[in-house]
This record gives sequence, structure tokens and C-alpha cells, in this order.
Amino acid sequence: MIHAEIIAAKICKIIDENPLTKSFYLKPVKPLPQPKPGQFLMVWVPDYEEIPLSVSGYYPEDNIIRITVANRGETTNAMHNLKEGAFLGLKGPLGNFLIPESGKKYLLVGRGYGVAPLIFFIQQAKGVGEVTLAVGARTRDLLLFLNEARDLGASVFVSTDDGSEGFRGYVTELVEKLVREKDFDTIIACGPEEMLKKIAKIGINSRLETWIIAESYMKCGIGLCGSCELGNSGLLVCKDGPVFRGEVYLRALGVSV
Ligand SMILES: Cc1cc2nc3c(=O)[nH]c(=O)nc-3n(C[C@H](O)[C@H](O)[C@H](O)COP(=O)(O)OP(=O)(O)OC[C@H]3O[C@@H](n4cnc5c(N)ncnc54)[C@H](O)[C@@H]3O)c2cc1C
Ligand code: FES
Repeated sequence: MIHAEIIAAKICKIIDENPLTKSFYLKPVKPLPQPKPGQFLMVWVPDYEEIPLSVSGYYPEDNIIRITVANRGETTNAMHNLKEGAFLGLKGPLGNFLIPESGKKYLLVGRGYGVAPLIFFIQQAKGVGEVTLAVGARTRDLLLFLNEARDLGASVFVSTDDGSEGFRGYVTELVEKLVREKDFDTIIACGPEEMLKKIAKIGINSRLETWIIAESYMKCGIGLCGSCELGNSGLLVCKDGPVFRGEVYLRALGVSV
């Protein structure tokens, strides 16, 4: 069932995660269905647009949902100017999801705000599966959720394009190395499309269960407008995703598997 109702939510807390990115802790005026890792919300910013944002945390004891937002354009900039106590409109949680499975060894790969759904997965995987997180960013200041991931028990590996922290180079190179040296069952990736295509190929060629959390331009978020089609596949990121098997993701974008 799609939860298309817009529910008001109060911003209880705002945390500066890095110079580009803030987390918003939101308390809906009535409880939303429990979100699961990979799912997103359509977030309506009064006077601006409704935009898709991944759930980056869930705190059921206080009925609080966290979203983590990079300042990229008009609506996300307006969000960054909001203060605690302001209200947003939420539709969701929407889309499919991944549930951590007992005893599995996961390699999570994220770049930029792509780490947002992954940190939620790590929260839920605590005490369930074994998680390694590979995080990439342009430079060290833009790395996201390293300490939180470590506190939740994940092994964290870092790459920066400029070598200011961790491995110097792209996170895809770091992942190639990790997959050669360590034992994983499943790889899950979220970030820019070029990164996702490379990670999907690495995962499939290494015979790992491979999941991609995809992005696209969304208008309705609930399967009505067609604006979020993945390539020309007929698959809608909002309804059929945002989580896709690596093979399905590559085929949808016309990349041979
Ligand atoms: C399922 C899903 C989950 C998302 N989760 C997050 C999240 O957790 N945190 C976060 O910060 N962002 C997330 N995004 C991206 C976010 O929705 C966009 O950054 C936002 O809509 C930009 O709105 P804007 O008005 O600020 O910028 P705009 O002016 O609309 O765009 C700013 C720039 O970003 C580009 N852009 C906008 N939307 C996208 C997109 N979907 N894919 C690629 N490029 C885009 C534009 O081409 C432009 O260059 C997610 C997107 C999807 C589809
Ligand atoms: S955003 Fe409208 S169909 Fe997906």
C-alpha cells in the first residue's frame, strides 16, 4: 500500500554533518509506518518543491525519523536555512527496502550523501550482520557518518580523491582491493550513477549478492508520473526501487552484465 498522505513533521534537531550536509531529526504529528533501510520520503518544503530524501535513521522510542540533506539547489538550500521548530511535510516511507540478515557479511559502499541510506542499514544491522563500510568523498571534510558507523560496530574504510584521508583515489578502487582481500556475502551501494555501475560490475564479477540503491528525478514519488524511469527499462525508481539487484540495474541502463 502506498502512503500518499502528507503528514506534517516538526524539525526537533538539526546537526551539521559537514560543510555541505545537514541532518534533520523530524517528529511527525502522527506516527508514520516504520521505515526500513533503502526507503525514502517525499519531503515537502513549504514554498518550495517536494523532493525525495532517504531515511538515514529511525528512533522508534521517540517517534523520530532522520534525513540527511546535501545543499545542491533551490529546495535543499531552503531546507538548510530552516531552523529547529519549523515544519516540513512528509509522504512515505516509500519504495522497497533491504533487511539485514543474520550472520551475513556485508560490504556497504557510499559516496557523498549516498551514505545516508547505508547508515540506516548499519543501525538496523547492529548485532545481526557483520558490516564493512567503504566511504568515498572528494576531500576529507566531505566524508559522512564515519564515527557513527564505527560506534555502531562497522569496520570503516575511507577513500578521498585528493588523498587528504585514507586511500587516495576513487572508492571503486578501494572496493576492488577490499573484495580481493576480504570475504563478503553481499555488497550494497548508493551514490553517483558512474560509481554504482562500477560497483555493480565488481559485485557481480566477484559473485557477491549485489544491490544498488538508485536515484533519479522524481516528481510524484508514488508511481504516477513516470519521471523516475530507470533508463528506458520501464522500471520506476520510486515504485520498483529504489533498491535494485545489480544485474537488473545494469541491464536497465543498457550496460552489458
Ligand atoms: C530515492 C532518492 C533518495 C535521495 N536521497 C537523498 C538524501 O538522502 N540526501 C540528499 O541530499 N539527496 C538525496 N536525493 C537527491 C535529492 O532528492 C536532490 O538532491 C534534490 O531533489 C535536489 O533538489 P534541489 O531543488 O535542491 O536542487 P535542484 O535545483 O533540483 O538540483 C540541483 C542539482 O542536482 C541535480 N539533481 C537534482 N536531483 C537529482 C537526482 N535525483 N539525481 C541526480 N542529480 C540530481 C540537478 O541536475 C542540479 O545539478 C535523493 C534522490 C532520490 C531519487
Ligand atoms: S516519481 Fe512519479 S512515477 Fe516515480
